[in-house]
This record gives sequence, C-alpha cells and structure tokens, in this order.
Amino acid sequence: MALLEMNGVSQRFGGLHALLDFNFSLEEREMVGLIGPNGAGKTTVFNLVSGFYTPSEGDIAFDGRDTRGLTPHRITALGLARTFQNIRLWNDMSVLDNLRIAQYHRRGYRLHDALLRTRRYRAAEKRIEDKCRNILGMMDIAELAEEFPKNLPYGLQRRVELARALSTDPRLLLLDEPAAGLNTSDVDGLIRLVRWIHEEFKIGIWMIEHQMKVVMSLCRRLMVLDFGRTVAFGTPEEIRNNPDVIRAYLGDGTL
Ligand SMILES: Nc1ncnc2c1ncn2[C@@H]1O[C@H](COP(=O)(O)OP(=O)(O)OP(=O)(O)O)[C@@H](O)[C@H]1O
Ligand SMILES: [Mg+2]
Repeated sequence: MALLEMNGVSQRFGGLHALLDFNFSLEEREMVGLIGPNGAGKTTVFNLVSGFYTPSEGDIAFDGRDTRGLTPHRITALGLARTFQNIRLWNDMSVLDNLRIAQYHRRGYRLHDALLRTRRYRAAEKRIEDKCRNILGMMDIAELAEEFPKNLPYGLQRRVELARALSTDPRLLLLDEPAAGLNTSDVDGLIRLVRWIHEEFKIGIWMIEHQMKVVMSLCRRLMVLDFGRTVAFGTPEEIRNNPDVIRAYLGDGTL
C-alpha cells in the first residue's frame, strides 16, 4: 500500500481551477519532486494533503486512511509534516518552544496534570524537551534553542522549521521550496542536508522546488504541473527532455 495516494483530486477557488484531476501516489521512503511555473498549483497540492484545504473533488489517503475533513493537527499526528514556502515560525517564542508546541498531540497527560504539575506532567514535559533538544542537535543548531527565530538569519530559520517538522516524527515530509532565498553555497548544503535527513530518518520526502539542481539531484521521480494540470511525470532525465515541460517553462529560464 502506498503511503500517500491521491485520486482525481481537484481544487477550485471560485471560477479558478487551481488543480485538475490530480493523481499521485508515493511509497514509503520515496523522495519525489513537484515542479512547475509560478501559480501552477504546487502549494495548493500540499495544502490539500496537509489538511489546510479540503478538496472540491477527489480522494486523498495517507497510510490507507481518508484524510479529507481532518484538521492539519490530526494529519500531523498521523505522521505527515511540512514546511512552508514563506517560513511560518512563532517569532516571539524560543526555537525550543517552537519545537515543543508542535508536540502537543502526544503530551500524554491531561489538563489537571498540567494545572497541578503532577509527576506525569513533569515527566512528559521532560521527555518532550529532551526529544526537541536532540533534534536540534542532530540538525546542528543545538546552540539556538533559546534564541528567537526573528533574530536568526534566513537560512537558519529554514533549518529551525525543518527541525520542527522532523520533531513530530513524520513518515512523510513535505518541503515547499526549501531552497528559496538561499545563496549558492547554502543550496549545496541544503542538498546534502535533505539527503542526510532522508537516510537518517528513513522517511518519504515530497518536495516543491524551483531550483532544478536541487530536485534533479535528489529525486528519482519528478512531477510537473502547469495551470493545475499534470504535464509530465518521470525521471529527471525524462523530464528534462520532455517537449511539454520545455513548453511549460518556455521563457522561464529555469530549465
Ligand atoms: N486560498 C486561495 N484562494 C484563491 N486562490 C488561490 C488560493 N490559493 C491558491 N490560489 C490560486 O491558485 C493558483 C495556484 O496557486 P499555488 O499557490 O498553488 O501555485 P504554486 O504552483 O505554488 O506557485 P508558486 O510557484 O508561485 O508558489 C494560483 O492562481 C493562486 O492564485
Ligand atoms: Mg507555491
């Protein structure tokens, strides 16, 4: 059974078809890319999968379970995490608290435990803190735990957002343009980091990215969207030589 399965998914916004009859499946531990020109519908796909939008039509199943109508939090608890095209961190909370707050679905204590600060509460909080610090350490940003995201350079904010996503123990990680805003040497670092995450955490990764170098070197399969329609699906080599893809990107200069 595929980890993620989408069948005939469409999304309309008023008269606009942002996504049309989208079909896709991703296996456990697979790394796949999603590319296409601006406004093609890529982020819409991620918003549908992660429960930010409910599809106008079609089926979405994560790990065999219908996720339509579930809140983003419930979907996170099932094992799906994401990062955002525009970084979404709590800027007035420490980096550590940004990770801590993402764990609330597995606190394992009740409100009265929290109010009375029972041993169960303290033990659960300690476990969560240890886990978050551990992820920060793995991501090489342990020393940023007490910093506020707004004071960090952009590249580090992206890393914190990745750490937060990983801290929820996902089986599938959605990355929406992880290389956006990074300079060339940071992009090479990101490619190494994503490859390492994929191997270390043994998870599936589905990535939207405009920088061809990133998706072409990381993903074995790529899907191309244009005006909400799937234009092509194949290996990086097939995609690079596909006339429909070249047409979709004509004048875009990124291929
Ligand atoms: N909540 C919304 N309400 C109305 N229209 C929307 C909404 N979200 C997306 N759209 C529209 O749907 C289309 C696809 O948008 P989407 O953000 O998915 O594109 P994208 O491929 O991620 O583009 P980019 O590469 O610029 O990030 C666009 O025309 C966009 O304006
Ligand atoms: Mg987008």
